[in-house]
Amino acid sequence: MNDMKKLGFLASGRGSNMQAIIEACRAGRLEAEPVVVISNNTGSGALALARKEQVPAFHLSLETHPGPRQLDEAITATLKKHEVDLVILAGYMKKIGPVLLKSYRNRILNIHPSLLPKFGGRGMYGLHVHEAVLAAGETRTGVTIHLVNDEYDQGRILAQREVKVTPDDTAQSLAARVLEVEHALYVEVLRDITAGRIVLPAP
Ligand code: GRF
Repeated sequence: MNDMKKLGFLASGRGSNMQAIIEACRAGRLEAEPVVVISNNTGSGALALARKEQVPAFHLSLETHPGPRQLDEAITATLKKHEVDLVILAGYMKKIGPVLLKSYRNRILNIHPSLLPKFGGRGMYGLHVHEAVLAAGETRTGVTIHLVNDEYDQGRILAQREVKVTPDDTAQSLAARVLEVEHALYVEVLRDITAGRIVLPAP
């Protein structure tokens, strides 16, 4: 069934995955609407992009709120106020709080630049992931999109796509190839959800 899902993004950095998804919405390749962007980082590319795209954007962090609980509640309230259906983590470097997890159970998606469960968990972010893949001598790596629960990188896997590691790869070259696949796969998974080909578990 096609219904226009409202997307809320949490992003800390560059925001290229968010950009790929917003572009797909704007181009009519994805029947969804970006309605709000939240970042813990005032200088993030994600916030700049949201403003350029005229998507309501908020900096919410421990600089704006006195403690983790208040911050968790503020993030959840902001998503609810914008009637978000799906929460899209796109390079969000903070742990998701219990209030948000409960309010959006099975409705929070994350992307990870490896074939989970390999190279996931604490400390596995950015170039560290690709450096670890190369150090382990892997011949293939890839992208995982999964639901978020209270363990880092351990929620139900929705989709994975492989990327070959070549003998001359550096962490940077591998990251760049994986990132292209990330952009494509995130949009595809969201299309599958909006089209009912992927059915999320009950909230
Ligand atoms: C991506 O590699 C994503 O898999 C990881 O963080 C990075 C975010 O990149 N979770 P961007 O901010 O979307 O450009």
